[in-house]
Amino acid sequence: MTTVEFLASLKSLSIKIWIENDQLRYRAPKGVMKSDLKQELVERKTEIVRFLKQAKDVMGDKRLVTDVVPQRNLQSISQEECEKPNQIELWPSLAEFFVYDEFLYYVLTNDRRRNHSYKVAINQLVKDKVVVDIGTGKDAILARFCAEANARKVYAIEMSEKYYNSAKACINKLGLADKITLILGDATKVNLPEMADVCVSEIVGSIGGVEGAALILNNARRFLKEDGVMIPARSITKIAGVCLPDEFLQNPGFTEIPAYYTRKIFEQVGYPFDLRLCLRHFSKSSIISTSSIFEDLNFTGMIEPEYSHEVNLSILKDSRLDGFIVWLNLHTIEGEVIDVLEHEYCWLPVYFPVFSPGIQVSQGDKIEAICSGSLCENNLNPDYKIEGYVIKETGEKIEFKYYSYHYKNDFEQTPFYKTIFSQYVFESNINNSIKTAIT
Ligand SMILES: C[S@@+](CC[C@H](N)C(=O)[O-])C[C@H]1O[C@@H](n2cnc3c(N)ncnc32)[C@H](O)[C@@H]1O
Repeated sequence: MTTVEFLASLKSLSIKIWIENDQLRYRAPKGVMKSDLKQELVERKTEIVRFLKQAKDVMGDKRLVTDVVPQRNLQSISQEECEKPNQIELWPSLAEFFVYDEFLYYVLTNDRRRNHSYKVAINQLVKDKVVVDIGTGKDAILARFCAEANARKVYAIEMSEKYYNSAKACINKLGLADKITLILGDATKVNLPEMADVCVSEIVGSIGGVEGAALILNNARRFLKEDGVMIPARSITKIAGVCLPDEFLQNPGFTEIPAYYTRKIFEQVGYPFDLRLCLRHFSKSSIISTSSIFEDLNFTGMIEPEYSHEVNLSILKDSRLDGFIVWLNLHTIEGEVIDVLEHEYCWLPVYFPVFSPGIQVSQGDKIEAICSGSLCENNLNPDYKIEGYVIKETGEKIEFKYYSYHYKNDFEQTPFYKTIFSQYVFESNINNSIKTAIT
């Protein structure tokens, strides 16, 4: 079990862990901290303290949690909440913004299930081959997997200078510098000294295309020989109707770490806006309709970055329809699928809060809609839209339209976003153009 997994397992038991005056402290509900668990906590003390300190450094603010498995302030957790582990948490969709830091890279590098699925593909495809890794990140993790799988040569491209330097230090330390050549720059602009057989990347987000994978990987085909292959092979993002728990909808809001990244995104973009939202601890039992495909990016050929297609969903039970869950199914290679609703991954499912308040639906009602993706002004990241009708068995038609913009300057435009952001104080900066969420 990694440190994060161990901390997550403690959290699922409502055990809180924090550092106080350099000491590791915990608070557990009565009877939960059994002797074997306490023993493991003692044995893992050093790694946990190191990890929590790192998380705290990343947060750069003592008020922010040292608990890397986020929940509200210790003082504000009521007994009732303690008894409800794994409540839904609201997160901003992160992949499409350059808010990567040590903490987020840690989460990526230590996502064992994700890494396993990549290794399945890498182990089948890279032996004795030349590989290009697009966006290698701080730990050059996929490039290292390729080197371990006996790739002949790996060119690993990273556009962040800071994390290119970290990757370089890591490669040198591991003695892999002759095998892996790091290249600093935007993958769409740099050149390679030779053609590659395999292109490996992880620039997909919670909706596969949010980070600009369509354009970046279309461009990366110039690195590939004619019979070159892509890992991952395909990103399919699915959609289904949901009824979320009342406890969540009554008081949706960010816990401290998601609030921290929301603030970082607002600072980067320059204004607060109704950013795309994800749900952690979403349960499949909240799905109330059949599912369909929202976005399909087939990396084995050129991808059309803009699309529009019909989806038809059937309501499976009498319920309330609050909106849609939209989730990634990443095929690293045919037959090896990362389905982010099957397990917890570094990707979270996206929530489209279309109906606020929700609408009553009955088994057999239909949803007919058009899903579309079109590039926003930066010509890289998509804006998404779903519009259509809920068609009741009685014949009644309820029209809906929902936009999920990359960074449009729209703020508190729907009741759901109003509820979330009303909990935060916003403060204008000196030139009055940037607002910062004070959490
Ligand atoms: C989600 S992280 C993945 C990191 C690592 N490959 C992994 O799998 O853990 C995406 C990385 O791609 C980099 N990146 C995104 N777009 C890029 C581009 N156009 N050129 C080079 N690097 C890029 C980001 O800076 C980030 O480090």
